[in-house]
Amino acid sequence: MGCQYFDPCDNGADTFTIAIPKYTFGRGCLREAGARAVGLGMTRVGLFTDPFLRQSAYVATVLESLKQAGVDVAVFDEITIEADDASVERGAAFVAAGNFDGVVSVGGGSVMDTAKASMLYGLHPSDDFLDYFAPPLGAGRAMPRRLLPHLACATTSGTGSECTSISVLRINRMATKFVLANPVLLPQEALVDPACSDTLPAMVVASTGFDLLCHALECFTAKAYTRWDKQDDPLKRPLIQGANPWSDLAARQALEIAGEYLQRGVASDADHEARDQLMWGASLAGMAFGNSGTHLGHALSYGVTHLMHDVTTTGYPVESPFVPHGISVILSAPAIFRYTAAAAPERHFEAAELLQCDLQDAGFDDSGEALAARLIELMQKTGAPNGLGGVGFGPANVPALAASSARQVRAIANSPRATNLVDIENIYAAAISY
Ligand SMILES: [Fe+2]
Repeated sequence: MGCQYFDPCDNGADTFTIAIPKYTFGRGCLREAGARAVGLGMTRVGLFTDPFLRQSAYVATVLESLKQAGVDVAVFDEITIEADDASVERGAAFVAAGNFDGVVSVGGGSVMDTAKASMLYGLHPSDDFLDYFAPPLGAGRAMPRRLLPHLACATTSGTGSECTSISVLRINRMATKFVLANPVLLPQEALVDPACSDTLPAMVVASTGFDLLCHALECFTAKAYTRWDKQDDPLKRPLIQGANPWSDLAARQALEIAGEYLQRGVASDADHEARDQLMWGASLAGMAFGNSGTHLGHALSYGVTHLMHDVTTTGYPVESPFVPHGISVILSAPAIFRYTAAAAPERHFEAAELLQCDLQDAGFDDSGEALAARLIELMQKTGAPNGLGGVGFGPANVPALAASSARQVRAIANSPRATNLVDIENIYAAAISY
């Protein structure tokens, strides 16, 4: 493909696959929900949202549009702020009883991820919730080839879940998050109306913006797909397939958007240009990492959310201690990219450049340090906590954080640099404060 990074390797993969939904972006496009649903053959839908959005103009617009189009609707809003197995079990019962021919989701990642998994468990129940998760956690049970058509309407500029085959769920009994990943979870259509971001609080724009930035940065610096083992059966090829020319294309653009607009979007809810761009960037980053996989940034964030019971972050409508997903990812990111840069210095250099890092006099050897410095600058300018210490973690928490994150085996293996438990401990220790 004219790029050294993807040079063929012995026994390495020689194909990559792209899956994205039909996608519509633009102010006011939520009004198209009814026509889009009819276009997907829907006559009776289950609409997933959360209790806060239920009262919003966005859900009202979608409900009105569905009604005008003659589509019958039942609403489910029993979704917690982080999608978890309990929400999915309630959602699955809703799907099982609803006699639906389609699902519409209106919300952020938690809503869309709950909708995806609720269809799976509602239409194809499992004895144990973990059955569909990959081993060693779950039984790796094969997913069905088809669920109901899903029209996903994203209301935040973060997860990109409207464009991915991934559902990230907190398993309450294990107090940690794991990922369901399968092509059947990809929505058929996505509607992204950036007007939804006009009312997002700054703290949410910062968290979701760092999520999109890290999706893009991780998939751009991920191990090349040609360095993963070749899998002859196309249906057995994993979704985490490594960096590839497609994920590069979308990730580069998403990084440019984050570099230009993240700070502006956090600073002012009147800056529609910045917030519109962040919505588009989040989808682009979803289209990218959904077809490559993330690596250490996301893997190490799961340890942070797992052990967050000792910490508290303000700004979200929850009573229990809570670290928003994007913040849990960015806190370790400067230490991670300092570590991974040695394995792909040119990619880290280019990423720093796309994020508008000042690279005068810097060479490829400085790329990890330069990228880390730019991330820290963005964290400071958007009021993010200063490393893991900023949300209550100290050196004594490092072994537990590392042990928890080490379970994210495939994502860790997608790192451009081979990473063991000691490396993870060292990264966490370096991420306590910057
Ligand atoms: Fe994420």
